[in-house]
Amino acid sequence: MDWLLEIEDVCYTYPGSETPALNGLTMRVPRGKRCVLLGHNGCGKSTLFLHMNGIYAPERGVVKWKGEAFSYRRTFLSQIRQKVGLVFQDPEQQLIASTVAEDISYGLCSAGLSDDEAKRKVEQALVRFGLEHFRERPVHHLSLGQKKRVALAGVMVLEPELLLLDEPTAYLDRLHTRLLMKELERIHREEGTTIVMATHDIDLAYEWADWVFVIEDGRLALEGAPNEVFARRDVLEGLQLGVPLLFDVWEALVPSFFPETEARPRNVADLKERLARCLVD
Ligand SMILES: Nc1ncnc2c1ncn2[C@@H]1O[C@H](COP(=O)(O)OP(=O)(O)O)[C@@H](O)[C@H]1O
Ligand SMILES: [Mg+2]
Repeated sequence: MDWLLEIEDVCYTYPGSETPALNGLTMRVPRGKRCVLLGHNGCGKSTLFLHMNGIYAPERGVVKWKGEAFSYRRTFLSQIRQKVGLVFQDPEQQLIASTVAEDISYGLCSAGLSDDEAKRKVEQALVRFGLEHFRERPVHHLSLGQKKRVALAGVMVLEPELLLLDEPTAYLDRLHTRLLMKELERIHREEGTTIVMATHDIDLAYEWADWVFVIEDGRLALEGAPNEVFARRDVLEGLQLGVPLLFDVWEALVPSFFPETEARPRNVADLKERLARCLVD
């Protein structure tokens, strides 16, 4: 397996806190995959992301990019933050400039691009993210879904190899969740970006991910392909995470309708298709 980013035995405790937020966490991000980071509030997902792009340095343990340990020097950090793009859960933490176009160009200017080159990339990002009509719009006039899109555009304009998304669907309605997932699909397919998305939406994780990390109390509790991870009902229920709804539905249908050996459906459309076929037979 080809690892993009490795976290080895990382510990981190916030100043003034008794319990560590990360407590000997070890995990490796496989290149090219759509990964999900599952875990309850407070299990350490955001703290982990802040270590993955060098905003925080571990107290103990090592973070590596393509096999090389982070150095935490200024030049290294500015490079790693371009390669590892982090979209915060709350866009208010991310958006700093006054208009949409200025905000998207912010990171480019600090990356040392010429004005013309930066302008061209900002234009491209505005179009790609459907924001061309919002170019001069003040950021604080946008809806939450729009702000999240601007924050994502501002990170993607730097063409990161690894995209970290901290609970990107939090507070989004169904429509905007779907639009965002479509956008992530496009980014993964067309730009080949490796993605790690933190979420506690187990159904979304099952449908979308091809690799799943489960975090509990600042440690890795479980990892693997979705079918393997979600088959560990005992562990997931012990962690109060449960299993995807589709798993429960499928288990209710097997073995009356389908053989035990048939692979589980990954989404509702897949389930519908199989039911239709089964009813025709
Ligand atoms: N700025 C902070 N100062 C002190 N403790 C914090 C801070 N941010 C997070 N924590 C604590 O660290 C632990 C992990 O938090 P966090 O990484 O935000 O988890 P998650 O993103 O999974 O909800 C929690 O116990 C949380 O209370
Ligand atoms: Mg968080």
